[in-house]
This record gives sequence, structure tokens and C-alpha cells, in this order.
Amino acid sequence: MSFTDQHRGVLILDFGSQYTQLIARRIRESGIYCEILPYNVLSDEILSKKPQGLILSGGPSSVYDANAPQLATELLEVVDCPILAICYGLQLLAYKLGGEVRPSSKREYGYARLNVEALDSPLFVGLPKEIDVWMSHGDEVISMPPGFRITAVNNKMLNAMEDLSKRIYAVQFHPEVAHTIWGKQIIQNFLYGICHLESNWSPRSIISEQIGNIQNTVGDSSVICGLSGGVDSAVAAALVHQAIGKRQICVFVDTGLLREGEFEQTRALFERSMNLKVIGVRASDKFLSALAGVDDPEKKRKIIGKTFIDIFEEEAQRIGSVEFLVQGTLYPDVIESVSVRGPSSVIKSHHNVGGLPERMRLKLIEPLRELFKDEVRKLGHELDIPAEILNRHPFPGPGLAIRIIGEVKYEDLKLLRNADRILEEELKLANLYQSVWQAFPVLLPISSVGVMGDYRTYERVIAVRVVTSTDGMTADWARLPYDILARISTRIISEVCGINRLVYDITSKPPSTIEWE
Ligand code: XMP
Repeated sequence: MSFTDQHRGVLILDFGSQYTQLIARRIRESGIYCEILPYNVLSDEILSKKPQGLILSGGPSSVYDANAPQLATELLEVVDCPILAICYGLQLLAYKLGGEVRPSSKREYGYARLNVEALDSPLFVGLPKEIDVWMSHGDEVISMPPGFRITAVNNKMLNAMEDLSKRIYAVQFHPEVAHTIWGKQIIQNFLYGICHLESNWSPRSIISEQIGNIQNTVGDSSVICGLSGGVDSAVAAALVHQAIGKRQICVFVDTGLLREGEFEQTRALFERSMNLKVIGVRASDKFLSALAGVDDPEKKRKIIGKTFIDIFEEEAQRIGSVEFLVQGTLYPDVIESVSVRGPSSVIKSHHNVGGLPERMRLKLIEPLRELFKDEVRKLGHELDIPAEILNRHPFPGPGLAIRIIGEVKYEDLKLLRNADRILEEELKLANLYQSVWQAFPVLLPISSVGVMGDYRTYERVIAVRVVTSTDGMTADWARLPYDILARISTRIISEVCGINRLVYDITSKPPSTIEWE
């Protein structure tokens, strides 16, 4: 995607914050196109895009760090649009423009109460005098650069400032996170009120733009598409189908790491209701033997990524004249796997990004690489993908392998599949399946003592993880009713032989991730 005359929008310079992509989300939710570029991109590239707003993201550095990300000050002189600087962005601006920044003795993290000093600030239009905000920073600004005025404080310290004549606005807190209750209003004040942007970024516009891109990239050749059974690859396949029709051949691999009955049912569904050409490949032996003896999560992910690619390349060769591989990679997969767009650090190698081998014969087409899950579901509705596929919980490409802690063994997969089926059945019976983001059991590598009938047992433990989320970037554990938890526990322990204890995971993301590995 790129800035075009229809999609003139906002450019975000990424200084390494884990929240940078949330800024992008908030902007897109407001119907406005935006792109993220690394902080050190050349000024010429920024200017050539003619942004109507520029955002400087937060970041983990202190302006005093030896390798602190820098901002080309001349950019501020030449860029002809309003600027919003967030957290590290604010400190950097203050430092560069002649203010004083002090390394703080303690990091401030979490909620803070903000006093809005300038209710007439265009950024704070419609806000009450006091708001709760989310903070995450080390340095603090103790004197402003010339020309700026204070617009908000917390604990008597400067928290927001602006220079109206230069159209520069800066905040110490994070308006992009959901915990900053008025954050959406602040971002929309910047977009609509200050940058005068109009909402025109919609699923329809993404689809038509992507179809054009895919046709240009593919030309006359053919592509294969790796289907996982989940929403993302289904939407990617539907997009490519609209662009090049039957020149796309879908490959659905039975990795041996899928859920019960999934291979047969999903394959039939894709062929029947989406009219896709699907080749089914049975490869569970290949995956399980490659995983034998491996218990490190990152190694497991990399092995699975490579095995997928080996299979796709074999299939491509068999079919002939295939140059491209379509994947349903999403933005969160990218941001958590690699530091593609700036210095955000790697969290885990999602199999279809960081888990890819370095040398691949097939070139990648990833039409959803800039999108979030809920945006992808909207695209799916627009593309008439059956609800049966669209409403499924996300299922990771590495499948059950990352839900068996430690080495993946055939017998354990059977156990986990059984528990998974029961959990899904119970949530559907209780009408709770659609109200949670994901629900799955995790098989732990420990045994515990129990008593069943009159016998002592020494069997494995299952952890059940059920989370709510809007995009998988942050998540909370679902407060399921106790009665439902009790039914899930009783059924799994009495029906799955080899399990005698069940625990419920009550951690949010962060600090945990959704999957255990
Ligand atoms: P984490 O565990 O990173 O997961 O909090 C966030 C979301 O991504 C899914 N996930 C993956 N999806 N390939 C995928 O296609 C992967 O390698 C992968 N790892 C995690 C996870 O299920 C959750 O929805």
C-alpha cells in the first residue's frame, strides 16, 4: 500500500514503541489511511509522500542514550503538516528544540491523572478538565522549548505542550491505548480538527487497492496460497481469487498439528462455499519427525515454518509456472516477529514471518500484512466469506505444537485434541464461543497426584486459556462463569484419559502472551 491521491493520510515515524501499531489502528478505525516508517527514513521520502499529518511515536530509549533514535531537525522546518509527538517523541522534540529533558529517577508506568490546563487546545477539544491516562516513560521534560505552552500536567509536571504557530502538539501519555479513556477523541481531534482529514479508508477501498496490486505483481504467472483453515488465509485467498481467479491454487496441509476433524471439514468448506481450487497434502509424518526431540519454542516455530515452505515449494514445482506464495500474514504477526519497521524488539517468531527460512524460491504475496484481525474480518464480510469461517477463533499456523509445552509427541496430540473439542463444545453450548477471542487447552509437561475412584493417579495437567481481545495485541483473561469452568474441568478430566488436573490461566497480555509458546 502506498499514499495515493485518494489515500493521502498520516505518516507515523516509529521510534520503537510496542504501541506504534496501535496508533495506526486508531487512525484506521477513524477511516483514515496511515503508514508507519522507521524513524531514520530519509526526509526526502517523507516529503515525497505529502503526509497531511505526522506522528512521532513513543519508544523505549532515553534521549541521553548513546544510540538514542534521532530526528532530523530540518524535517520539522520543511514538512508542511501538523505534528503530534507522543512520549519519547515529545522528549525528543523538547530536547532538539532547546527545551530541557531530565532522566527520571523512576520509570512511570500505568495510570496517571492528568489535568488539562488548556481546554482551548485544538488537541483537547471536548475533554473534561481531568482525565485518566496511560503512561510509560523514563525521561521527563523540565523546561519547554521556546514558543511552546503547557497544555496539560500531572503531579505538577509538564505532560503536554504545543506550539500553535508551528502546528506542533506533544503529549507524554499514550492516547493510542484503550486505557487512556479520552484517547480516541484526542487522536480524532488531531486527525479531523487539526489535520482536516476526511474519513475515506474503508474495507471496499482496501479490497480494490489490493486487487490492483496483486494483478500488477502476479502478471501472467500462477500462485499458490497456503491455507491454514483460519480467517486470515481464507481472506487472503478470497482477495487473490478476485484478482486472478483460478490461477491461484490453494494448498491445505495436514500437519498433524490441527484440531480434531479440521483437515477434512475445512477443505470441503473452502471448495464448496468459496469456489477455491484446493490441493490437500497429508504431511503429519514430516512435521512430527522434524519436531522429534525439540522442546525449545522458537526452534519448534522455525522448524514448522521451514517444513511448510518445503511443502509449498514441492507443490509449486509439481504444478509448474508458480512464482508466488500467498500468505495470510497480519500486522501483529509482523510486528511481533521481526523489527521490520523500526526498532520494536522481537517477541516470538510467528511461523509465517520470523519462522521462514532465509532462502526461498517463491516470492511472497501478503495482502493483509498491514492489517489487524478485526479489519480482516470486515474485509471477509465484504468478500462474502461464509460466517462459519469468519467467526472462527484464530488458530496459529504452528497449531497444537505450541500448545504442548516441550517436545511434541503423537500421543500428547491425541490428548490435547480431545480436550480442545470438549472446551469448544462447552463454550458453544453456553453461548460463549462468540464472546471470547480465543479458547484453548495447553498440555503442561508436569504430572500431579490425584485420586480417581479409590486409586491414586499420577497424570498430566491441562491449563485452559480463554481470552478476550479486539486484535490479539493485548488481551485479558475471560471471566467465565464458575459453573461453566466446572463443567469444562469435569468433562476434560473424566473424558480425556491421562489428565487428572485442570488449571485456569488468569494472566492478561501483557505481561503474558496469548499462546504459551
Ligand atoms: P501471542 O501468543 O503472540 O498471539 O500473544 C497473538 C495471536 O497470534 C496467534 N499466533 C499465531 N498465528 N502464526 C499464526 O498464524 C503463528 O506463528 C502464531 N503465533 C501466535 C495467537 O493464536 C493469537 O491469536
